[in-house]
Amino acid sequence: MSFLIPLSDLDYGAEEAAAVRRVLEGKWLSMGPETGAFEQEFATAVGVPHACAVSSGTAALHLAFLALGLGPGDEVIQPAVNFVASANMTRAVGATPVFGEIAGLDAPTLDPAEIERLITPHTKAVVVMHYGGYFCRIVEIQELCRKHHLALIEDACHAVGATCPLTSGSVAAGALGDIGCFSFFSNKNLVTGEGGMVTTNRDDLVEKVRKLRSHGMSTLTWDRHRGHAATYDVLAHGYNYRIDDLRSALGREQLKKLERNNQRRRELTTRYWQKLQLLETRGWVLPFRKVAALDSAACHLLPVVALDGETRWRCADALKSAGIQTSLHYPFIPGFTAFACKESRGGLDKSIAFCQRIITLPLYPTMTMTQVETVSDALIAAAC
Ligand SMILES: Cc1ncc(COP(=O)(O)O)c(C=O)c1O
Repeated sequence: MSFLIPLSDLDYGAEEAAAVRRVLEGKWLSMGPETGAFEQEFATAVGVPHACAVSSGTAALHLAFLALGLGPGDEVIQPAVNFVASANMTRAVGATPVFGEIAGLDAPTLDPAEIERLITPHTKAVVVMHYGGYFCRIVEIQELCRKHHLALIEDACHAVGATCPLTSGSVAAGALGDIGCFSFFSNKNLVTGEGGMVTTNRDDLVEKVRKLRSHGMSTLTWDRHRGHAATYDVLAHGYNYRIDDLRSALGREQLKKLERNNQRRRELTTRYWQKLQLLETRGWVLPFRKVAALDSAACHLLPVVALDGETRWRCADALKSAGIQTSLHYPFIPGFTAFACKESRGGLDKSIAFCQRIITLPLYPTMTMTQVETVSDALIAAAC
């Protein structure tokens, strides 16, 4: 089904086409010089010494967990309101995901007080997710992780280009913990189709990530192609989580557009919030409107929390009939069959309510203000 107003849309043009053509003409398609340049440019944008491009955000999380040495017997505290990749990769390394409560319906990111409640002698790490491109309460969480000697992983898949104002100056998403993970999936703020990135300040972690990304091999095909190495050793049991140069070339072009596009997302969000304030008077919640600094956010999503679950479905259906695509970010992870309630330690009422009532509205940089008004008017008509 095609929609009059889709949930997200690409900002691709002649630049991306030229970048792909450049790689095709160079005849080196797999991981090579474009990837090296993409990594350097991305590291500079995030303000870290190391960025390692990978095949997806999920691969980034898997490699981050492995590099931090997480494994059987370890508990990893993480939000119950998230895409399932972090929870799945926690399981993939044999560790246990422990789901933490969100701060509120208006701030659906991990509540620092809840993290403290969930810490046990087995806790090894905390995963934070900057939901919708808005920062979690990172300073308090950094402090908690320092106090309890826990690794801090940023699932920064929604937050590419977001910068957090700290007293020491602005720090970008992906540079606030031990390791940051990004996705460049087709609906993200920076798109390569499939793709991802690991960022870190730590030399020891990037070395492990680079090794595990490509079968634990001591040299890359690109090194051997250039005559820099004749053979290789295998130093660890790794994976094929490499990105290719076609995607890296796309990523480089998208990175150039990132700040402009994030600014456009902020403007569209401001207009949505103006239009939808009426719904707040009817018991709806506009997450982050009252609690977040818009100019530091990446505005990846436009979430609205309906009065209740029944209203959510009714309004989503009405928008669909009007040709407007919506989504829900996300279903409640401990409610999935593979995680079931055994994964939950309770105290997740706000997360459950959020997941039952959330609707995600269309938001993308090529969207027009008129489209924002059309979506808002259709939602208000359905809700009131
Ligand atoms: C918050 C979050 N984490 C992880 C991922 C996984 O990224 P990918 O789809 O690139 O594997 C996504 C992507 O949808 C995401 O939104």
